Amino acid sequence: MMPANPEPIAPDPEGTVHVPVLLDEVLEGLQVRPGAQIIDATLGGGGHTRHILERSAPNGRVLGLDADPAAIRRVREELAEFVRQGRLLLVHARFDQIQAVATAQGFAPVDGILLDLGLSSFQLETPERGFSFARPGPLDMRFDPTQGISAQEIVNSWPEEELADLIYRLGEERRSRRIARYIVANRPIRTTEELARIVEKAVGGRRGQRIHPATKTFQALRMAVNDELGQLERTLPQCLALLKPGGRLAVITFHSLEDRMVKRWMRREAMRYVPDPSHPQGGRERTPTLRIVTRRPIRPRPEEVARNPRSRSAKLRIAEKL
Ligand SMILES: C[S@@+](CC[C@H](N)C(=O)[O-])C[C@H]1O[C@@H](n2cnc3c(N)ncnc32)[C@H](O)[C@@H]1O
Repeated sequence: MMPANPEPIAPDPEGTVHVPVLLDEVLEGLQVRPGAQIIDATLGGGGHTRHILERSAPNGRVLGLDADPAAIRRVREELAEFVRQGRLLLVHARFDQIQAVATAQGFAPVDGILLDLGLSSFQLETPERGFSFARPGPLDMRFDPTQGISAQEIVNSWPEEELADLIYRLGEERRSRRIARYIVANRPIRTTEELARIVEKAVGGRRGQRIHPATKTFQALRMAVNDELGQLERTLPQCLALLKPGGRLAVITFHSLEDRMVKRWMRREAMRYVPDPSHPQGGRERTPTLRIVTRRPIRPRPEEVARNPRSRSAKLRIAEKL
């Protein structure tokens, strides 16, 4: 598997603009039409939202959420015209609050919901946020820097074995034990640069690899800091509750554990029959709540990957509420 949002070793030719991943596929998949009510639960740079608003003109509306207050501020400025028209509502919130937020805003039920997981180019490219091993900064990695624990706290306080497990499970890094040992031996670690250097030392440098040796360790820490799997697990059922019948959910993942979670959840919701050994017939009928639109995940085409290297591990799954 490819690590989430792997950083290209060469500088990103797109600069700091967030290029929306699988844009046409998302717009098609969500069937965005004039007047549509859509929730973008991961606003980021507002890339998908801008196109959804254009395609749903003249009166379509988007409720945009992001855990990062900086993302909300930036999009409020960049898409000010839509905000003024009352077509774009912006709320600083984690997406596991989606149901409460949408209900409080009178924004339910909806025609579509988009989850584009992971981090944005702005976050990656802002050194003070501490997401990037290529940009010196404090080891932070919180999507919402106003709350929760930072990567620095995990790296400097977790027992070696727990760190190794974390790097193995969320980073899918085979050399996790060695990396954890080096981390513990080199505490305190305060910056992205220090951590990247320690990981490089632990695994023996780049040796012509396409991705930096610290990529997987950084990914694991980011996912733990933001409880990314927990957030996703709590949010999927809320999305289902918020959709109108016929409404669609589109989820873009960059990590195999996330993709597996989405796939299994969609399959469970689409099932007509539940195996149950305690049942006389060995199972029971159930009424499915979802129809799976993408039997296999949609991947970016080679042209997209060439244009935007960060899209290369993206997988899009779409389901329709019954
Ligand atoms: C890949 S970016 C989205 C990019 C966006 N689709 C665009 O086209 O510009 C992911 C965004 O989701 C946000 N995010 C990640 N986890 C979140 C969560 N649990 N709740 C709310 N926002 C979250 C991040 O802060 C980041 O801004």
